Amino acid sequence: MVSVPLYASFRSIGAYVPEKILSNYDLEKMVDTSDEWIIKRTGIKQRHIAATNETTSDMGAKAALLAIERAGISKEEIDLVMCATVTPDYFNMPATACIISDKIGIHNVQAFDISAACSGFVYLLTMAKAFIESGMKKNILVIGAEKFSSIVDYTDRTTCILFGDGAGAAVICASDKKEEGFIDIHASADGSYADFLMTPAPGSVHPVSQKVIDERLNFVQMKGNETFKLAVKTLTKDVQEILEKNSIKASDIPHFIPHQANYRIIKAVGDALGMREDQVVLTVHKYGNTSAASIPMAINDLYQSGKLQTGELMLLDTFGGGLTWASALLPFCGKTHS
Ligand code: UT7
Repeated sequence: MVSVPLYASFRSIGAYVPEKILSNYDLEKMVDTSDEWIIKRTGIKQRHIAATNETTSDMGAKAALLAIERAGISKEEIDLVMCATVTPDYFNMPATACIISDKIGIHNVQAFDISAACSGFVYLLTMAKAFIESGMKKNILVIGAEKFSSIVDYTDRTTCILFGDGAGAAVICASDKKEEGFIDIHASADGSYADFLMTPAPGSVHPVSQKVIDERLNFVQMKGNETFKLAVKTLTKDVQEILEKNSIKASDIPHFIPHQANYRIIKAVGDALGMREDQVVLTVHKYGNTSAASIPMAINDLYQSGKLQTGELMLLDTFGGGLTWASALLPFCGKTHS
């Protein structure tokens, strides 16, 4: 019997944004900063923050349900659940993907988390592609969800202005149509820059202790300026490589969806690639940096605006703690939002 090649098809997108807004003016009252500084240096005007009793899995579950509904399949057809997060419900176990599966009524399927910070969602797409092309899975739920506010130090003005909470999810299905498959995807990492962006505790290096609390090691720490420069360089190079490899011109990409960390990074990368403003999806002004949720939340915004049409090409590009980075070139295979 001749086996038919299988292709991973990006079938649907969903997202959840928590209700509460933390504006730059709110932050002015918390740390020594200003709305003017934050907008000028980052482009961020506000970010959404989860309620105290709202967890990463709560947000992930809401995004996931929407993505499944939009995929037009039943929950029973999902055969793998993967969640990318650095702010899991529990730091060690169980995995947030297991909790999300239970919350949305998916039982007895493989479920696990990955940790690749802001690159997590695109990392998951590389895995979804491999699972589908190997014939192991057919309908995969991929989720990027973060309650980043749970690791943000709201006394540190260099980080607390940047991050927000939220979740995004997509359903990736097996297809026998080549034109529905990912064109290309690439992910990489360099651990020698681990200390550029990290949460030192809790972990095996610093298990929970009084020292962790006293030295605030449970909060995110970032070498902002160094990370910024590397982000611009890496994001640009990554896109140039994937476009060149596939003989596609930057000007022919309808939707460039970069990680939403800082408007200045997005602008520098877009300019270096010669992208027009209408090609670049921007959400950083209203959500801030939502880490692994950033790219699926941005895709969802584009989708809900009605601008993401069936069959149109998306170029994803991301960079984050690890350091990790990834890019993907793939068509949107869901129905256009009406
Ligand atoms: O998602 C993963 C990837 N993450 C990123 O790519 C984030 C990368 N980094 C950034 O977005 C930017 O580096 C920041 C927004 C974090 C900082 O912007 P910057 O232009 O790199 O500023 P800087 O760190 O060089 O600091 C410039 C000045 C400093 O004051 P002095 O030393 O010049 O007197 C800071 O203390 O700005 C000061 N500063 C602030 N002032 C007002 C830093 N944070 C603030 C603040 N409000 N919130």
